[in-house]
Amino acid sequence: MSETQLDVRGMGKPDAYRILKEQLDAICEGVTDPIAVMATMACVLHHGFGHLWTGFYRRLAPTQLLVGPYQGTLGCMEIEMGRGVCGTAALTRQTVIVPDVRLFAGHISCDARSMSEIVVPVFDYRGEVMAVLDIDSAETGTFDDVDKRALESWVARFAQDGIGHQEVNEKA
Ligand code: SME
Repeated sequence: MSETQLDVRGMGKPDAYRILKEQLDAICEGVTDPIAVMATMACVLHHGFGHLWTGFYRRLAPTQLLVGPYQGTLGCMEIEMGRGVCGTAALTRQTVIVPDVRLFAGHISCDARSMSEIVVPVFDYRGEVMAVLDIDSAETGTFDDVDKRALESWVARFAQDGIGHQEVNEKA
């Protein structure tokens, strides 16, 4: 299967998210492995919008986030719950929009070019925070309520029955 890497820069955000989501849904149809979906979602968003960094931190222990599938320059390996923008979103279970990272106390800088950021909590089928989706931009004020609503609806797929807790098929 060959897929076109869509570039939606220059489009209005609602259209951009709609077009990318259609592509993601087509590629991920029937895919229940969360890592595969995270990797594909990060890729589609990152190249679609031309962001600086797009990816997931997964909650592998109650108080620890570990870097997951991402696109961009090297991300920090571990983030504690409650620390930085990612840890704040995970702890509060709320999306955090940071228009200017220099004004967010405790912001963890993985790339000095990052100027603004959005972090969206990802819930599993039990309603537990299983990860966060973090997107960094090289410009200030990139993210707003349109991004928040769109990204929250994108990650809602991880709460669907059948994703993230499938049985391993030993015969496969
Ligand atoms: N800025 C994030 C850390 C992760 S990187 O941006 C990839 C934070 O403050 O949690």
